[in-house]
Amino acid sequence: MEIEKKERKISVAIDGPSGAGKSTLARAAAKELDFLYVDTGAIYRTAALYMLRRKAAPESAGETAALLPEIDISMTYSGGIQRMLLNGEDVTDRIRTQEVSMAASVVAAHPPVRAFLLEMQRNMAKEHSVIMDGRDIGTVVLPEADVKIFLTASSEVRARRRWLELEQRGTSREFAQLLRETRERDENDSRRAASPLRPAPDAVALDTTEIDFQESLARIIQIIRERAGL
Ligand code: DC
Repeated sequence: MEIEKKERKISVAIDGPSGAGKSTLARAAAKELDFLYVDTGAIYRTAALYMLRRKAAPESAGETAALLPEIDISMTYSGGIQRMLLNGEDVTDRIRTQEVSMAASVVAAHPPVRAFLLEMQRNMAKEHSVIMDGRDIGTVVLPEADVKIFLTASSEVRARRRWLELEQRGTSREFAQLLRETRERDENDSRRAASPLRPAPDAVALDTTEIDFQESLARIIQIIRERAGL
């Protein structure tokens, strides 16, 4: 008799403020462990892009909620890269502008927007072993995650990393302005009433201010292996 082997799905939640290195680290760790990497910020960004295109005021809960029924967001993976589809259009690159970053942070404060995007995130973890990064993964999206990591770094270091990233993309920005925007997003993300950014009580904290990428990655993989018993 064939006994169906039920593969254990492991879920890893990585939360933290913008620019702490969550996505690069989560992507690299997922590759190493052969897990699916889910960037949940990209989902909020995609919703925000739609709001901007439709000229809705991101701060208006009413205007943004009214547009939700028009939005169909899906994710596909090509060569391990998560691609975002907005009503069938590939917007993977378009959601990376500073304008969309700021709008996403504002739009994400509205409970109807969060509720609309929640199920989609949970379903990913039902189907795959995942490393999911965001702001409320360990607290709200996957409260039963096997491993929770809260990644931080000083706001100066995070703004510097963002500055470098934009430089490399050929879209230079003034550092002081980026630092202000980093702090503004921190405020938006952690002061909001709905699912604010905060560490889950059982999260392992990792501060990457003083450590480089390779060391951060090694520590994350070590935490995951230990906590998930791999
Ligand atoms: O991680 P990111 O910078 O791409 O996220 C963009 C915005 O989306 C962020 O400022 C807050 C919001 N967000 C959220 O509220 N909850 C998540 N799980 C992920 C992102």
